[in-house]
Amino acid sequence: MENHMNGKSILVAYGTRYGSARYTATEIAAYLKNKGYNTNLVDLRSERAPSLPGNFDLVIAGSSIAMFSWVGKVKSFLRKCRRASVPTAVFITCGTAIEDEANARSRFLDRVINRIGLNPELTLVTGPVIDFRPGKGLPTGLKNRMALYRRLEFLTRKITLYFYIS
Ligand SMILES: Cc1cc2nc3c(=O)[nH]c(=O)nc-3n(C[C@H](O)[C@H](O)[C@H](O)COP(=O)(O)O)c2cc1C
Repeated sequence: MENHMNGKSILVAYGTRYGSARYTATEIAAYLKNKGYNTNLVDLRSERAPSLPGNFDLVIAGSSIAMFSWVGKVKSFLRKCRRASVPTAVFITCGTAIEDEANARSRFLDRVINRIGLNPELTLVTGPVIDFRPGKGLPTGLKNRMALYRRLEFLTRKITLYFYIS
């Protein structure tokens, strides 16, 4: 399977307000790089969005949720991906994910990708990354981070499978 992945390029693009979506995107990019993919990481709020199409075999785009809203630049980038017919995977990072992942998925993820008209290969809902250093953390921090790692493992396995069958 390693050979099959050689030369596959994945863009991981994110929009964050407080850093959790960046953390998630950085973990995904590092994980995939380690698996042998060519990986690029882009902050859509502070860098120019890379040009499409054809430059990437898969775009993974993720947005922070605040006040029920995505980061606008992630939505506009996903519209570009749709127009360019680039395969996508989409994740959101939001507080609701801690308590009710299904609710977070339907309210914040499915609704928006439907409105964009996107049909992603994979989707992922992640919670905030909580800083659990003394004086900063919450008891749920470690649990939450471990759940994030488990899901990243799952996502990257699915991406490997996606390339294997496509
Ligand atoms: C001002 C503010 C508004 C928020 N609004 C929502 C919300 O509407 N729904 C939700 O699930 N989480 C909400 N949250 C929690 C964020 O989604 C959570 O902190 C997430 O980690 C933000 O991602 P980021 O760190 O990448 O910006 C909010 C947090 C803040 C600080």
